[in-house]
Amino acid sequence: MEIRKVGVIGAGTMGNGIAHVFARSGFSVVLCDVERRFLDRALETITKNLEREVQKNKITIDDKASALQRIEPVTERARVAECDFIVEAATEKFEIKTEIFRDLDRVARPEVILASNTSSISITRLAGLTGRPEKVIGMHFFNPVPVMKLVEVIRGLATSQETFTTVCELAVKLEKTAVEVNDAPGFVSNRVLMPLINEAIYAVMEGVATSEAIDEVFKLGMAHPMGPLTLADFIGLDVCRDIMRVMHEGLGDPKYRPCPLLLKMVDAGWLGRKSGRGFYKY
Ligand code: 3HC
Repeated sequence: MEIRKVGVIGAGTMGNGIAHVFARSGFSVVLCDVERRFLDRALETITKNLEREVQKNKITIDDKASALQRIEPVTERARVAECDFIVEAATEKFEIKTEIFRDLDRVARPEVILASNTSSISITRLAGLTGRPEKVIGMHFFNPVPVMKLVEVIRGLATSQETFTTVCELAVKLEKTAVEVNDAPGFVSNRVLMPLINEAIYAVMEGVATSEAIDEVFKLGMAHPMGPLTLADFIGLDVCRDIMRVMHEGLGDPKYRPCPLLLKMVDAGWLGRKSGRGFYKY
């Protein structure tokens, strides 16, 4: 089956980036979220980011217009029944994903692959919610999706070779590089990145150095484009907390305990860039 129409569930930061790259690569996209205002905001962001690519001569004005035309925003999830491939990029909560995967399994045609952009939840567990575990896979994109080249492709225990190959081929069409990873809490990217961020937060909490100093160490000493605390603000402190919790629970090792300062900041509503305050003010 040729994949022409792609369903994207969730129009947040990752969902709108995923819709952007599929539409830019010529796929029709059904972008689904629960409220119209989330879709409006996503289309605004996609328009702005496509314009950025026009300004950099990466795409033409016509490419931008046709990419936007290929995205259909919808609030009824049943509309993804028309899609040949579905990527879920909803909130990183197992209960929310449970409801979505059960519903997608009911709505989508039996041959359709259900991919999840989850950053740490078990693909095997999501697959077990469906009657098509061999067609469930992790397709983990990185923020900002139009820029970052990696797609971490995660095989659940039952994921078939055919599903894996299809997703790797799709990644190539999106001009991304697929890296194969097995299913384990945090996969590879977050298993290694989040403890770095969490440890940087401990260093702030213990007064080892200021946020600015820690970020300078990583920018100038290790050539990271962003220091770990700027990156935490960029990812969202609530997302960082949730990923640490999944790893703490799933791996059972106290080294994955979310830093108390991280928990406190999330409780205060200091979620980073999106809320206007995190380790920095925006
Ligand atoms: N959409 C499209 N293009 C964008 C963009 C966006 N949202 N944001 C930036 N760009 C483009 C710019 O146009 C520019 O293009 P060019 O290289 O052709 O000129 C390029 O990206 C660099 O942008 P800027 O010059 O404006 O800014 P910077 O040089 O500061 O780069 C950055 C911004 C790309 C975000 C860079 O700081 C970076 O790579 N940061 C690290 C990001 C990272 O680590 N992401 C992974 C997060 S972890 C994750 O997503 C996993 C999840 O599970 C938690």
